[in-house]
Amino acid sequence: MYLGLMDFFIYLTFLQKFGMRSDAPVALKKAFEKYPNPKAIVVVNLYGQSADYDEILKLAKEHNVPVVEDAAESLGATYKGQMTGTIGDFGILSFNGNKIITTSGGGMLLCKTKEEKDKIVKWITQSRDPARHYQHTELGFNYRMSNICAGIGRGQLTALDERVAKKTEIFNTYREAFSDIPVDMMPVCDYGVPNFWLSCMTVRGTDPVKLMEALEAENIESRPIWKPMHLQPFYEGCDYFMHDGDVSKGIFETGICLPSDTKMTKEEQNRVIEIIKAQF
Ligand SMILES: Cc1ncc(COP(=O)(O)O)c(C=O)c1O
Repeated sequence: MYLGLMDFFIYLTFLQKFGMRSDAPVALKKAFEKYPNPKAIVVVNLYGQSADYDEILKLAKEHNVPVVEDAAESLGATYKGQMTGTIGDFGILSFNGNKIITTSGGGMLLCKTKEEKDKIVKWITQSRDPARHYQHTELGFNYRMSNICAGIGRGQLTALDERVAKKTEIFNTYREAFSDIPVDMMPVCDYGVPNFWLSCMTVRGTDPVKLMEALEAENIESRPIWKPMHLQPFYEGCDYFMHDGDVSKGIFETGICLPSDTKMTKEEQNRVIEIIKAQF
């Protein structure tokens, strides 16, 4: 897991080490010791799998800090039966073109009370005061979604269950096909059901770049696992709290995101599998 402090936010990225429970709450406790009053904790559900929220929410409550749940990648996934995006005090969803459903761009913020909603709607509508004329008493933003994009999103929403089913099938096909080579597919935590947005794995004893290059030679795109925030040059100098070693760095160095598009055919996925298996 990664936990760092940036602009008074504690940013918590959940990456489960293989065969281990999350160490995120332990690192969060350490962060609170140094920074007891952050503005918010941003918890990121990576690769379509929920973070383990119970302990995080408990700690956040003790410190009276709101939790923003970054569910950009995990729409359709659940945590203990509850939809991700609705678990934190606020949730964010992304409808960018690469997400499980899309409006071409943009996203959504989820909140729990009418007061919060009214405040947010005001901010995203240039903070226009309720006056007949244009009047602003605070800084505003123009973050509204156009009704054309919203219409696309409503249509896309009807395909969500089907996409989750297809992504799950893609992940399971990889997992089965790779059971006899030294790779580990993303561990699936027992507290929830992922949407399997991207099928990811780590590789033992082989450089993942070799696999990516082999796929690239066949005009097939794959990617490394996300570079952790604390290794991003922009955040150099921010505090980073960890427990049990730098898990996210290890996963970044050995990981690969496999082609996972729901439009991929069985034959196309079999080609990916063949190319990867030929590297071992
Ligand atoms: C975890 C996570 N958070 C935030 C974002 C940003 O979403 P958007 O591209 O809609 O701004 C993304 C997507 O790229 C993401 O994967």
